[in-house]
Amino acid sequence: MLGVRLTGTGRAEVSPRLDNHQLSQLVDTSDEWIVTRTGIRARRLVSAEQGVTDLAVQAAQNALAAAGLTPFEVELIILATSTPDDLFGSASLVQDRLGAKRAVAFDLTAACSGFVFGVVTAAQFLKTGAYRRAVVIGADVLSRWVDWQDRRTCVLFGDGAGAVVLEASAQDRLLGFELQNDGSQNACLTLAYQGQPRPLIDDVTVTLGAYQFIAMNGQEVYKFAVKRVPEVIEKALFRAGLTSDQVDYFVLHQANQRILDAVAAKLAVPPERMLSNLDRYGNTSAASIPIVLDEAVRSGHIQAGHTLVLAGFGAGLTLGALVCRWG
Ligand code: COA
Repeated sequence: MLGVRLTGTGRAEVSPRLDNHQLSQLVDTSDEWIVTRTGIRARRLVSAEQGVTDLAVQAAQNALAAAGLTPFEVELIILATSTPDDLFGSASLVQDRLGAKRAVAFDLTAACSGFVFGVVTAAQFLKTGAYRRAVVIGADVLSRWVDWQDRRTCVLFGDGAGAVVLEASAQDRLLGFELQNDGSQNACLTLAYQGQPRPLIDDVTVTLGAYQFIAMNGQEVYKFAVKRVPEVIEKALFRAGLTSDQVDYFVLHQANQRILDAVAAKLAVPPERMLSNLDRYGNTSAASIPIVLDEAVRSGHIQAGHTLVLAGFGAGLTLGALVCRWG
């Protein structure tokens, strides 16, 4: 078995920006309520002309440039998204628009855990020697699926994309991981299909329809995250033979500042080691981890040799954590 290195990050620039004051003109809420309960001050939303594919291509281009690779050198592209431009998948279009002619590309859906699931999946291909260079993209446009009249959900989400380049290497820098599902809590967070029966002929009926808005039981999701995320991180750390005090930075899915604070407290991690950009982006689902990772790498906070924990959680319910050494 070969090893894996993470060698570059990138993100897409998304505008316009919608802050809490503007949002309070749409629904009965306030900047004070949103900041106190979530830590979010503003979110970015794609323009009407943009889609997940556009964001994903831009994030991947920036990650490849950071890694010093050309698209032609990429052999695998995984697009973690729950909001593809096409239900058949958007990864093929990303492959084409990147010019990654040699790469196999597919979508992976695991909601806000999608990026962590994607990195772990890509790593398996690299460790067996099947492929040598992969790009994992987390991209979501949840603004298309939010009920902008529902104050319980619309204040939380934003759009974005981030990406990371993985390369096969003699030394393994992916030190441990743990992925989990709890389908028994599926109803807590859904973006569900709703079809109307349409009789075709005799006793044959199909359904035709569309997807509902995002529906969430906020308190249940909160309890799930605060209990289970520290546990999944501990398991990944155990596999890596490390403890939380040996980790330089925790890069968690950005859902709610209170969740980040509670996880940090449970793991006895000082706040400065728990990265957060929630105030500026809100919850961008599969994109949130690679975006905050990219910001921390480009600002010089994360440096070669640093030990990182990446952890995601969300609809499914899904959760996962991985431990890696950067660079
Ligand atoms: N502005 C003002 N008031 C709001 C509001 C908003 N945007 N959203 C809800 N409220 C109101 C509710 O109607 C309720 O009022 P009531 O008591 O008169 O009925 C009150 O605030 C409390 O609602 P509640 O749902 O109990 O709030 P909460 O403290 O649980 O906070 C969340 C709500 C969503 C911020 C919180 O549950 C949470 O963050 N959950 C996790 C969600 C998450 O991270 N999801 C994504 C996972 S990937």
